[in-house]
Amino acid sequence: MNRICELLEIEVPVIEGGLAYIGNGLLAAAVSEGGGFGQVGSAGRTPENFEHEVLLAREATNKPFGVNIPISQHTDFSPYLDIIKKHKDLIKGVSLGAGNPKDLIPFIKDAGLKALVLTSTAFHSAKAESLGADIIVCEGYEAGGSNGPSELTTFTLVPQVKRAVSIPVVAAGGIVDGKSMAAAMILGADGVQLGTKFVATKECEAHDNFKNAILEAEDVSTVILTRMLKGPLRVLKNEYCDKVHEVEKKYGTLEHVLPMVRGTYNKLAMKDGQIADGFASCGQVASLIDELESAEDVVRRISSEAKELLSGGKIAL
Ligand SMILES: Cc1cc2nc3c(=O)[nH]c(=O)nc-3n(C[C@H](O)[C@H](O)[C@H](O)COP(=O)(O)O)c2cc1C
Repeated sequence: MNRICELLEIEVPVIEGGLAYIGNGLLAAAVSEGGGFGQVGSAGRTPENFEHEVLLAREATNKPFGVNIPISQHTDFSPYLDIIKKHKDLIKGVSLGAGNPKDLIPFIKDAGLKALVLTSTAFHSAKAESLGADIIVCEGYEAGGSNGPSELTTFTLVPQVKRAVSIPVVAAGGIVDGKSMAAAMILGADGVQLGTKFVATKECEAHDNFKNAILEAEDVSTVILTRMLKGPLRVLKNEYCDKVHEVEKKYGTLEHVLPMVRGTYNKLAMKDGQIADGFASCGQVASLIDELESAEDVVRRISSEAKELLSGGKIAL
């Protein structure tokens, strides 16, 4: 049996990545209903709203799902941990990103949950394994949102992480269909995590303007913000990004750029639909997304396509 499926008690190794502001409960439930592993995001939510979405997800599915805590995005993550502890019987795992997971892994394990740790290098993956992580989610530079500073791409990252750890590895960044899922599995991944593709689904609470922008995106439609100052952030290219680049170039200090890349401008573009007035996290796969599907269908379709490719001798050499 697939190791990710075994650990998370799911049917197919397809995970919905944490989605700041728009990783809602009904989306997580739809992914899990499709046989994958949905996750309720905590970034951009008050603790009360986070709890509400966790309960909504549980009402909508009996299948396992998880939650996401991007560590450095919370000034105080303790209220979110209290909610996880309170509802530990409702969730199966917690994914940790954007920070040092050292103190949180024991908390997750003590609650009887699986710890998924996001990494972007082989070194940090081995470190996370030594700290007790159950699953490594290694994310390449193609991915939407915050990227690792080393800028390793999924294609090179996965085999190197695989060589560095013995726990199961999930590939994230650039996975959008059965072909990319199969490619990641051939490189050694035990499963895949998708972000951008799940934004453009019926159940995601992203604004329609953001979903439509993804449907219309071309191969060159994403750019990197804050590369030198705060670590790379992959977003949809627009005039707002040009302004951020100008300030980055002119001042070169985080002090000047930080006010422009605050969460409020991320929310404005992704949830409120004022795309031109802010920045929307988005991966390079956006141009390969042409229709708004249900998240449940996405999970079923891509996993069956991948299965066929991997087992059906469909690739000629
Ligand atoms: C809109 C958006 C918001 C994201 N927010 C988070 C987040 O809050 N926490 C996190 O760990 N990752 C976040 N990510 C990264 C995803 O969970 C996922 O790893 C990534 O999107 C995978 O790459 P892809 O975009 O090529 O599918 C976000 C990605 C997107 C596109």
